[in-house]
Amino acid sequence: MERLVINGKRPLSGEIKIHGAKNAALPILCACILCDEKVILHNCPKLSDIDNTIEILRYLGCKVSRDEDTVEISNSDCLKDNIPRDLMNKMRSSIIFLGPLIAKLGKANLCLPGGCELGPRPIDIHLKSFEKLNIDVFEHRGSIDCKTDKIKGTSINLPFPSVGATENIMLATVLGNTKTLIHNAAREPEIIELQNFLNKCGADISGAGENCIIINAVKKLHGCEHSILPDRIEASTYMSFAAATGSSLTIKNICNEHIEPVVFAFREAGCDMNFKENELTICAPKRLKRIMHIKTLVYPGFPTDSGMPIIAMSCIAEGTTIFEETIFQNRYNATAELNKMGANIKIYDRIAVIEGVKSFYGADVEATDLRGGAALVCAGLAAQGTTNITQLQHIDRGYENIEHNLSLLGADIKREKN
Ligand code: EPU
Repeated sequence: MERLVINGKRPLSGEIKIHGAKNAALPILCACILCDEKVILHNCPKLSDIDNTIEILRYLGCKVSRDEDTVEISNSDCLKDNIPRDLMNKMRSSIIFLGPLIAKLGKANLCLPGGCELGPRPIDIHLKSFEKLNIDVFEHRGSIDCKTDKIKGTSINLPFPSVGATENIMLATVLGNTKTLIHNAAREPEIIELQNFLNKCGADISGAGENCIIINAVKKLHGCEHSILPDRIEASTYMSFAAATGSSLTIKNICNEHIEPVVFAFREAGCDMNFKENELTICAPKRLKRIMHIKTLVYPGFPTDSGMPIIAMSCIAEGTTIFEETIFQNRYNATAELNKMGANIKIYDRIAVIEGVKSFYGADVEATDLRGGAALVCAGLAAQGTTNITQLQHIDRGYENIEHNLSLLGADIKREKN
């Protein structure tokens, strides 16, 4: 079993270059099965979720090669219409293959993605939307069978602006000869990125980033060369690392606009932030101040994925921080581990009340999920003594080379095998 061993209380300094966004790369990789020609993706992060998606593409019949952060995907003329359970179970986002498979083959058979550490995470909005598009959906013993003789574009009103459902509908309807409108669509930057990628391949989609996305289906998609946008969540995580350790850090290769929803929290905590084009320098005080109230919301609100590392840094702030999670039920799984490290967090349903303590102290803890794992790294960096973090497969889903990057910034962190 692998573990991260962190000897805390070392200030960080220097520059970190943010990688491509996992949550943008994943749907774009799924979209590649719609393209008739080769796709070349640059700035594709080296993460286990990306490796799993590449494995699914290969299973379906695509040729995929990777050289550092560049991935090349050539589609197959005879794609498979199913994904086996062991591949589906590795991550929930594999459900985004459903839309493009139906668009390409008129049918698809997928197992339901496995249980998720963030709560039930149903896919009812995806499936109800498919039914409106003239797709027959049969759910049977944990698998989903979809069939259509022709996808018929229509106007869909999402009951909630689900990121995954918006992506799945865009990918199901981009090919053909009809028009689809998605009202109350998700507005996350990763949705705009998917639109940009598809349009580069010849699609006719507009409105991403706004309330209504309009998809005028096209006969075919060609290939393209595309560079994945920077990961706003990786950036905010490194900001939390800097804040928790009282450090000054320059964070490069960011999209300033996408960082905007988290800036108020760091300012309120007493951090100075200096923005230049595509980079930011964060300068943290010796002791952070409490943040009065953070509430996660869909974009452009405060992102749920940035929450746990910010909770970790607030644990050692002066005063009480109130955090309200509105997107995922089980977001707070890692708070029990933070409490083992000396934090004082109390959970009341979706509200976390964080009473600031003077310091974390090192402990043996387990990553419970991806962002919870990042929160434990944050606590470990700030802690007095040694922290051992296990269950690193969660952290490796979303942070490329985390111990290497942090070592370069001055942290005492290494990965060990037991
Ligand atoms: N929901 C439903 N029914 C649906 C779809 C969603 O009830 O059919 C609920 C979910 O259960 C959840 C909420 O709506 O409570 C939000 O779900 P959404 O579909 O918007 O999220 P997602 O597509 O499953 C993506 C990211 C998440 C990120 C969320 C919100 C990817 C691969 N995942 O998930 O990223 O938290 O949007 O921004 O893009 C992460 O990177 O750590 C991560 C969890």
